[in-house]
Amino acid sequence: MLSEAAVNEIKEIRKRYVTARSCIMPCLYVIQREYGYITEDGMREIAKILDINPILVFEVSTFYTMYNKKPVGKYHVQVCTNISCSILDGEHILDVISKKLGIKAKETTPDKKFTLSTVECLGSCGTAPMMQINDKYYENLNDAKVEEILNSLR
Ligand code: FES
Repeated sequence: MLSEAAVNEIKEIRKRYVTARSCIMPCLYVIQREYGYITEDGMREIAKILDINPILVFEVSTFYTMYNKKPVGKYHVQVCTNISCSILDGEHILDVISKKLGIKAKETTPDKKFTLSTVECLGSCGTAPMMQINDKYYENLNDAKVEEILNSLR
């Protein structure tokens, strides 16, 4: 069940939008922060607070990749392997991270600290290759930078 703070945040978000349907995306982020991923119960709670059909929330959450549909580690490492990043060695960066963490894409370390994912373009092509860890972008990556970033999170 959502905390009172999360419920209030959703109600505040709702005030900023003309229709309930248009504020589903920011509300899903509240759920993701609260539970660590998008739960079915969480989506039903959003629908109830916004007084809309739950299917409207489900269809938004399943369309966008930034909403986690299952639990992820404390640090969700999302490596872009789309065209600009790929040209500038994005797959190599993925390989370096994979070796460092000892997991492949779509896996989580046994201590639940890191989940590794590949993602499509994150809109930061000018600073490729790049990755996102939780809400933060890490850009112009190379082996040394990756090493330093991951060590800082250990
Ligand atoms: S291709 Fe990687 S950010 Fe656009």
